[in-house]
Parts: sequence; C-alpha cells; structure tokens
Amino acid sequence: MAKGVYIKTFGCQMNVYDSARMTDVLAPLGFTAVDTAKDAELVILNTCHIRVKAAEKVYSELGTIRRLKAAKAKSGGRMIVAVAGCTAQAEGAEVIERAPFVDLVFGPQSYHRLPELIARVLRADGTAVLDTSFPTEPKFDFLPTAAAPRGFAAFLTVQEGCDKFCSFCVVPYTRGAEYSRPVAQILAEARGLVRDGVREITLLGQNVNAYHGEGPDGREWRLGKLIRHLAEIPGLDRIRYTTSHPRDVDDEQVAAHRDVPQLMPFLHLPVQSGSDRVLAAMNRHHTVADYRRIVDRLRCARADLALSTDLIVGHPGESEEDHRATLGLVNEVRFAQAFSFKYSPRPGTPAASGASQVHDDAKSRRLGELQQLLANHHREFNEACVGRTLPVLLQKPGRHLGQLAGRSPYLQSVHVAAVAARLGEIVPAVITAATANSLSGSLAETAAE
Ligand code: 5AD
Ligand code: SF4
Repeated sequence: MAKGVYIKTFGCQMNVYDSARMTDVLAPLGFTAVDTAKDAELVILNTCHIRVKAAEKVYSELGTIRRLKAAKAKSGGRMIVAVAGCTAQAEGAEVIERAPFVDLVFGPQSYHRLPELIARVLRADGTAVLDTSFPTEPKFDFLPTAAAPRGFAAFLTVQEGCDKFCSFCVVPYTRGAEYSRPVAQILAEARGLVRDGVREITLLGQNVNAYHGEGPDGREWRLGKLIRHLAEIPGLDRIRYTTSHPRDVDDEQVAAHRDVPQLMPFLHLPVQSGSDRVLAAMNRHHTVADYRRIVDRLRCARADLALSTDLIVGHPGESEEDHRATLGLVNEVRFAQAFSFKYSPRPGTPAASGASQVHDDAKSRRLGELQQLLANHHREFNEACVGRTLPVLLQKPGRHLGQLAGRSPYLQSVHVAAVAARLGEIVPAVITAATANSLSGSLAETAAE
C-alpha cells in the first residue's frame, strides 16, 4: 500500500536538494510525497541551524506535528516523526529531550540509511532512534536515481561541508568536512535530470568553488572544468552554482564566465563585512581589497555579471567605523541582490564566546541602514532591466491566470503573460515593469506584433 511522506524543508538550497533525495531513497519503500503532514505516515522536518531563529522554528513546527500525531493515533493510525538536517546534527539527543514524541533524529550525512533507520523505528518499542554519525562512506554513492521529475530547474549538490571555520558559522560542525563528488557521478546525475526535462541546473556546495573532485582522467578537476563539461550535455541550457568563497575563486572559474554561454551571468559571492578588521576576526582569510580585485576580474570576464552577497552586521567587536566600511563597500560594488543578517551567536562556534558582543539595538539599527541601501541597489538593478529583452525560463504558473513565472539570467523572478503550454520554454521577454522583488514582462514575439 502506498504510504505518504511529508517533508518540510527549512533553510538553504542544499536542504531542498537533500529533501528531494530523501524522497528518492524512500520511494522503493512505497512512500510517495504528500502535500500536508496530516495525510502522512512519515513526517520529516529537514532543519536548519544557521541562526537561532532557524532552530527555534523547528521546535514551533514540532508543536503542530505533535498534535497531528496524537490525532492520528486517536483514529488508530500511526505517524513516524523524524527530525533531519543541521539542527538534528547539532542538537542530537536534545531534540528528543525537548520533543519526546519524535521517533527518529538523523543528520545530513546519513539519510542514505533511511530504510534501515525506519526499520529500526518500527522495531523499537517507542524508543527514539538517533543517527548523527558522519559515516565514512559518502551518502552519494548510495543514493538511487531520481524517483520523480524535478521540474525545469533543479539543484545538484557537487560539494558539501566546509573546512574554513569562519568564526560565526555552524556549517563545519553540522555538515562536516569538505567533500567533492567525483565528476562521473555528477555528469550522470545531470544527464538524468536533463532526460527528465530539467533545463537549468544549479550546482550546490557550501563552498562550491572549493570543488576538487576526481575527474575521469584520475586527476583533480576544479569547478571551472566541471562546468565546461556539464555545458556539453545537450539540452542543459543554463548552469548556475552557489555558494562561492572569495578565497577559492581561481582563473578557471573566472574563465568559465567568459567562455561558457550556458553559465548564467550571476554570482553569489558572500563578503560578510566591508571591514578588514572584522574580516580578520571572522577568520575569512581575505581582505576587502581581495574582494574588490575578484569582482574586477569577474566583471572583466563577463561585463554583465550581476553579483549577490551575504553580509553580517554586529559580529563581536564590530564598531561603528567597521559598519560604515561595510556600507562603503556595498555602495561601491552595488549588489544586484543580497542577504543580510544580524549576527546570531551559535553554540560551539568561536565568535559565540567572544568578548565585545554587540548590543542588539546597535545590530538592529545597523541592519536597518544596510538593508535600506541594499534595497535601493536591488530596485535600481531591477529598474534598469525595464525595456530590455531578457531570456526567461518559464518554470511555473504565475500568481494570476494567464501568467507564468520564471527566472531571468540574473535570477530575477519574472512574471510573463503566457499560456501554460509554454512552461519549460526559455522565451525572450520584454521587461515592462519592475517591483521591489520581481519583474513583469510580455513575450517578445507578442510585443513585436
Ligand atoms: N549569524 C548570522 N548570520 C550567519 N550566517 C552564517 N552564520 C551566521 C550567524 N551565526 C550567514 C552568513 C552566511 C549565510 C548563509 O548565513 O552570511 O553566508
Ligand atoms: Fe560557514 Fe565560512 Fe564555511 Fe561559509 S565558508 S560555510 S560561512 S564556515
């Protein structure tokens, strides 16, 4: 009998990828994905631990799931509740202490073992099962091929984990050491996705440009070379990758932006701060000048490259002068898009125990100032697109009838008046309007009439 699995994904794109892969692993056990938790025999919360708010969300969601599980039990049914992902990895048994109705806790590196873990839950007499080990075998070697099509744009993890240990970040502890998948495995997965209708692939990695996987020639391949080979797959029309680290940008990566037309002219390159003092305290191993030079090299290679970034305000020790330096760098680079956060102390990370924590009032004000500036640049970037014709991959129905939503090369969300039959096409769209977060356009062929 078909059983329902409901996976709720929190946090980053890698979790989105992992959730899809969990569905693949569960398919042979008879599980199919359902849209609501109440219809599910298995509920998985795939969690995030990056900031305190992300971790809190998990527990508030668990409150809802507890009630659903109790209601299901009352009507004679059974619901297995699992907590996966980075909060599971970081908190382990603490999750079970705080939410004793949870049946299973497993980390991001062990979900290929889900069939065995679920069997253990079914055998257990109500005792929760915990697997937050970092297995020596890479999970990727055990994941089956995709159980269901992934739409027109899909994620593909090529690298995982991090060895950089930025002062503020939990990732090296939750995702473990850096690992690059072999090239042949990535190419096979990409070909499979394209066969299933995918036209755009975003290569994922916490440090995607630290990629150094084993090539078919037995040598180590870097990201630029991988991208060139992916671009040879017929039908793979768009390639993106995220997230890059400034320290790992190399000539091959820059040259790929110059030479590979399928590689979209958009790069997410977190800088975190515009102050050398803070960058040093963050253990970033790059300066503001390094970042500027990288941006120049990339823009030389691809003049229309749009940049996106991550920024943290209020890292321990950040002064008003440091903050103004961040505003200065942002004014200089003019990011097309950016994510900015108040520093959130994470247990076990060096910055969390650092002296000179910044007061929350100062963090809030600094974040407000930064976000206003970023929003201006974001709006200006979007407005500059009005009147241009951009290729848009039509990915899903839009908000209104007769409208489809897609993405421009610069990852902007674009609403285009078009019939559903055109889903999956890359169409030229004349951009007619820009709002804070999206663009509207009409099909160029219609506009020309
Ligand atoms: N507090 C605030 N922001 C953080 N990030 C990572 N750790 C923290 C933290 N402790 C941000 C960084 C990173 C992005 C994914 O999240 O900017 O690039
Ligand atoms: Fe975290 Fe720094 Fe690694 Fe990025 S590079 S995942 S911010 S430790």
